[in-house]
Amino acid sequence: MTARIIDGTAAAEALRNRVAEAAAALSARYGAAPGLAVVLVGENPASQVYVRSKIKHTAAAGLRSVEHLLPMETSEADLLALVAQLNADPEIDGILVQLPLPVQIDADKVIAAIDPAKDVDGFHPVNAGKLATGTGGLVPCTPLGSLKLIKSVRETLAGLDAVVIGRSNIVGKPMAALLLAESCTVTIAHSRTKDVEAVCRRADILVAAVGRPEMVRGDWIKPGAIVIDVGINRVDAPEKGPGKTRLVGDVAFAEAAEVAGWITPVPGGVGPMTIACLLANTVTAACARRGWTAPEL
Ligand code: GUN
Repeated sequence: MTARIIDGTAAAEALRNRVAEAAAALSARYGAAPGLAVVLVGENPASQVYVRSKIKHTAAAGLRSVEHLLPMETSEADLLALVAQLNADPEIDGILVQLPLPVQIDADKVIAAIDPAKDVDGFHPVNAGKLATGTGGLVPCTPLGSLKLIKSVRETLAGLDAVVIGRSNIVGKPMAALLLAESCTVTIAHSRTKDVEAVCRRADILVAAVGRPEMVRGDWIKPGAIVIDVGINRVDAPEKGPGKTRLVGDVAFAEAAEVAGWITPVPGGVGPMTIACLLANTVTAACARRGWTAPEL
């Protein structure tokens, strides 16, 4: 194996510790900790796991945490009313509405209703526009965490060829914008890309965010590349016993680690950084909204 492992669990813990220090300093100085509201509609098991983890880490970092767990049949109007109430609540600095939402609710409408200053997911069109134009704003947590991992192993990215596989608003597009802001030459590959293997083979930095188990093979990777695997896919694992499953990324890890310079594992790579960045965004949002001096995170 040539690749060194980028330890997302350790990086996330370090970031959460910096957030906790900042939260304590802000509480001491201004008499209030930043507050995050998490909204979950329905009982999607994966969403329940994420939301429980978010709530646990929010409290552990010394932030205030408010949960709204709503039934599956919640109407769009009721969810929009809750968002309006949270927008108006001076104690709430960050609002996160867990996706996916049930079919009767238009997620785009809900995202657009969140006050951009409280949009700790960075999904609001105002924040997406600020990222695209390099004018600040709140940045989506998964790409922000991925960039922090990349920069933990290579400080200067200017001039590097970066390939992002996947063009979602949640990961692919903001990831590309962040790498462009670092002066990388950025390519976004997607399901209609011709000869995606050849495109990937050019990448000094390869970010896979497609949700297809082990799609990226070892021979897609440029020797020495930094490989960031955003995928979290549950697949059958008959070798572990009947009915057992395991998590794999979008990258065939064992093969890729034979070629890459650096690689994130799944689990233990990007995943833990996403929640740590959510906490960091909550501190950032609180400081910007309240005119507090923002700490370096
Ligand atoms: N569902 C999966 N990932 C995310 C995320 O980063 N934010 C929200 N709100 N929902 C998600």
